[in-house]
Amino acid sequence: DKGNFRHFMAKEIHEQPEVIGHTLSRYIDFGTRKASVPGIETAGFDKISRVIISACGTAYYAGLVAKYWFEKYARLPVEIDVASEFRYRETPVSEDEFALFISQSGETADTLASLRYCKQNGARIGAVVNVAESTIARESDVVFQTIAGPEIGVASTKAFTCQLAVLAALAVQAGRIRGVLSEEQESELVGALAEIPGYAVQALKREVEIERLSQSLSKAPNALYLGRGTNFPLALEGALKLKELSYIHAEGYAAGELKHGPIALIDENMPVFVIAPYDGIYSKTVSNMQEVAARGGRIVLLTDARGAAESGNAADDVVIMPDVPEIAAPIVYALPVQLISYHTAVFMGTDVDQPRNLAKSVTVE
Ligand code: F6R
Repeated sequence: DKGNFRHFMAKEIHEQPEVIGHTLSRYIDFGTRKASVPGIETAGFDKISRVIISACGTAYYAGLVAKYWFEKYARLPVEIDVASEFRYRETPVSEDEFALFISQSGETADTLASLRYCKQNGARIGAVVNVAESTIARESDVVFQTIAGPEIGVASTKAFTCQLAVLAALAVQAGRIRGVLSEEQESELVGALAEIPGYAVQALKREVEIERLSQSLSKAPNALYLGRGTNFPLALEGALKLKELSYIHAEGYAAGELKHGPIALIDENMPVFVIAPYDGIYSKTVSNMQEVAARGGRIVLLTDARGAAESGNAADDVVIMPDVPEIAAPIVYALPVQLISYHTAVFMGTDVDQPRNLAKSVTVE
């Protein structure tokens, strides 16, 4: 049932404040402001030498965000790869490692094969899955379920943000277990996570503006997405969503990589989406925007009020997001990124809930 929405995808985008809240309530304690992930002992965060993450598509991008979090908040080295490569790499895996597999369906063939490879090599196995009875869930030592509810649209939306919510709680609790985060730091981070449903509601209020921007984008043959830090994986996600839904060719890049090649693509016909909340490296992103602007590229900047004020007028359009703590940013900024591809696809007249050539669950290799 699509309710009042035209597509399942729109309904699922709008469900996010609620389902992120449901998911968070399983993994953080809103009262004590502590992460409290059921089954976390199985991961052995106090003993392991490394976290291995493997997944496909959008779930892989959730893992890429988590890599930044595990490194920063828990000082844990992270190895991450797409499952279709990881499973064949013959990479060394050992018993003092925790391997984490992320999958909405819990049935993705390559992700399952990566899981089995790590299991055979003695690693502890954890899974972030949405479907509790899935094969990946069954074969894991510990399951961290996302409470996104059934996702019908082929493109992953609410599953992605719920995966991020679980991974953020895991990284914060790992940080406490490993003695990296103080109680005050944990409480600040958990407090930030608790606010995400509210920020998501505010982010959805930008929809009319995004719809208008998407109408002009729907005439472009290509687009670029740029971001740094945890917003770099979001740039990759934005490009994937635009490709799969609207069939417009798009690429995501780490903003600092622009000058190493892709800047050659920039001209007046190239829309460039920059995902950049105001943070410690914001000024670097402003330099990248100026390089794009100097070559006539059309910049759409997703940032907060401070970022807008310090953007040096490089952007043609600015979507002003709520001011959010750093750990919340990739989750909150995922919403406008999803809305851009959704509305562009609607203008293009493509089949939003069932894009050509795609299946919801990829059980073939
Ligand atoms: C993109 C998308 C896919 C899936 C990928 C993994 O919108 O939906 O990239 O994320 O096929 O699927 P799961 O999470 O079921 O393993």
